Amino acid sequence: MKTNIGAPFGKDALILGIETSCDDTAAGIVRGGREILADEIITSAPRHVPFGGVVPEIASRAHTEAVEEAVKRAFSSSGVSPEEIDAVAVTYGAGLLGALLVGVSFGKALAFALDKPLVAVNHIRGHIAAAYLADKTLEPPFLTLLASGGHTAIICVKSFTEHEVLGSTLDDAAGEAFDKTARVLGLPYPGGPNVERLAREGANTVKLPKMLKGAGGYDFSYSGLKTAVVNYVHAAEQSKKPWSKADVAHSFQCAALDVLAEKLFAAAEERKIGVVAAGGGVSANGYLRERLAKEAAGRKMKLVLPEKRYCTDNACMIAAEGYIRYAQGEFASLDLNAEAYIPLKNASEPL
Ligand SMILES: Nc1ncnc2c1ncn2[C@@H]1O[C@H](COP(=O)(O)OP(=O)(O)O)[C@@H](O)[C@H]1O
Ligand SMILES: [Mg+2]
Repeated sequence: MKTNIGAPFGKDALILGIETSCDDTAAGIVRGGREILADEIITSAPRHVPFGGVVPEIASRAHTEAVEEAVKRAFSSSGVSPEEIDAVAVTYGAGLLGALLVGVSFGKALAFALDKPLVAVNHIRGHIAAAYLADKTLEPPFLTLLASGGHTAIICVKSFTEHEVLGSTLDDAAGEAFDKTARVLGLPYPGGPNVERLAREGANTVKLPKMLKGAGGYDFSYSGLKTAVVNYVHAAEQSKKPWSKADVAHSFQCAALDVLAEKLFAAAEERKIGVVAAGGGVSANGYLRERLAKEAAGRKMKLVLPEKRYCTDNACMIAAEGYIRYAQGEFASLDLNAEAYIPLKNASEPL
């Protein structure tokens, strides 16, 4: 099994990952960037339900309460002692600033106390690195569909450290469109899984825009689709005719996700890359996963889909990406700050 990334540092390095960018306080321990030894998540999601979305102040407070416990659980469930880890990897962005600061501060303090290197991880690169946990033999080059609450993009992973963005959303992200659709259909937070659940009871009967299908290169646009859903629901509510929320959910899901699968595989064919992967919360969607599996099988391409748990936010993906940074000797200093926004860029440059 080839898992060495040309690392100047130990290939079996034990990395503690800490993730606090949104509403999940997560800690994980990963060996050699591939093998999960601990995977702990303490979520504050139920506390946000009454508000219909994540409340940053509540999330920050919840992280403060949970971060030490999550890290302790990671050590005790893995049997790894704090002295045994080789580095502390922490998400420094992008995400909710106050939430990120909790993890960054905790990570810094722990790295300092243990006298271990601190590694700063870009959350988006973490989502990409989740594929290395799903397939321990996976090596670049491959294409990744990144579909999360904040980003939607097709990324060519050229090497462990070099990414090229082939296309991305021009406006909203796919996850954002799911969340907005959930809201207009009166479904509770978190939107994505609830739209998926309702969609299973419906059919693709509502005509919605096809969103840069066959146009715009590998870019996406979700604002037109979102507006079409809102307009349809408002018109349906005002009419006296019966209408089906489940059909709207199903039709929206098809419109939002078909184009992702189509463009991903078109890019793979054009680039002659036979391995595709996916990451980010939207790639937990069952309809999308089935679509990707069917398209890959039809083309005899290899598909690497992280388990659903590793599509949404988790700390193991942060440890996996942290391992790559660690192996390059890319350490952060103790004045590391959190960043609310990090542009999606061609990621060959250091942090
Ligand atoms: N089963 C699902 N179907 C569609 N969207 C989903 C599903 N599960 C989660 N999502 C969406 O994924 C997003 C969260 O993913 P995540 O990777 O955590 O985003 P980010 O990292 O940008 O915060 C949310 O917008 C959520 O609605
Ligand atoms: Mg995420």
